[in-house]
Amino acid sequence: MKVLTLDDAVKADLQEMFKTPVVIPTETVYGLSARIDCEYALDKIFEIKGRPKDNPLIVHISSYKMLYDIIDEPIPPLYQKLMDKFWPGPFTLLFKVKSNILKQVRGNNLDTVAIRMPYDSKLRLLIERLSVPLAAPSANTSGKPSPTTLQHVIDDLGNKVEYYIDGGVCSVGLESTLFAIIDKKPVLLRPGIVTREQIEEVIELPVFLKTKVNEKEIVLCPGQKYKHYSPSIPVILFRSNIWKDEMLKLSKDYKDKKLGVMCFSNNEINFTAHRIYDLGTNLKEYASRVFAGLRSLDLDCDIIFIQGVDSKDEGLAIMDRLEKASSRIID
Ligand code: TXA
Ligand code: MG
Repeated sequence: MKVLTLDDAVKADLQEMFKTPVVIPTETVYGLSARIDCEYALDKIFEIKGRPKDNPLIVHISSYKMLYDIIDEPIPPLYQKLMDKFWPGPFTLLFKVKSNILKQVRGNNLDTVAIRMPYDSKLRLLIERLSVPLAAPSANTSGKPSPTTLQHVIDDLGNKVEYYIDGGVCSVGLESTLFAIIDKKPVLLRPGIVTREQIEEVIELPVFLKTKVNEKEIVLCPGQKYKHYSPSIPVILFRSNIWKDEMLKLSKDYKDKKLGVMCFSNNEINFTAHRIYDLGTNLKEYASRVFAGLRSLDLDCDIIFIQGVDSKDEGLAIMDRLEKASSRIID
């Protein structure tokens, strides 16, 4: 296993390095990446993560030229407005894909591809030097919380990966927003730090939410079918306004357990917790710390209680992840 900084990686022999999957830092979460033209490395990603085969990988580009090489349609005007505003950044769009692109990155009956241009200019330089886009899912073992530090990735993947590129702590901390036009409607498939409200402001249209699937429906975003973001211990999410009282009440059922609590700063918890994990003072800080908190409390607690937030602005993305991570929700 070799750990490099992004500065060193950019200067390394990239053709050699990218023969197998490489861990890369992005502004959202760490990714496990492979060239989109290398079937062997793409297949390895699925194997290393234990990822279901029908869950396609997001493609990361460094230029519009790379976009035109992959997509099989003119850029829809609504997309262009959003790209002007949110690229480079934590914002992914679904496009019609060319027929020569490998199946590992194709969704929806193989005719779409999810593409984003990551924020960090050094990562974009690396992709530019490699001169081929990188497919990269989050670099966690499937089902676990996404990794926001290199150590999280090493904890999950260890020696299964040869090259790890360290970029420090991910600034956003939640995966990118996934947006598409489906049947002429603007649809949010995965909320993120680019919010529904911000998208609506740019396109001046209401955005439909499609972040859950029920059994009879066609699955637009395969990731929605699978269990996600879960530590090995139970997580109880408190959505109620009187969450402190509710936590106090429920804490009595777990007297003999090591209770981990995740909440905003400066909250006086009126029961004894084994450990409190501070989620900061605002929604952006909360978003950037939440996965790290779940992983941290998983190490020495028996159960996690977590303070919910309102499902609007960045809170929509936070609650989307927490509802999937939780074994129980208290309203
Ligand atoms: O921020 C991110 O997007 C991170 C970093 C590494 O860039 N990547 C990430 O990838 O979160 P992953 O694989 O963990 O999540 C990608 C999601 C999955 O739910 C997948 O089903 C969906 O995007 N997806 C990928 N390609 C798709 C497609 N063509 N159609 C519909 N959904 C797609
Ligand atoms: Mg993921």
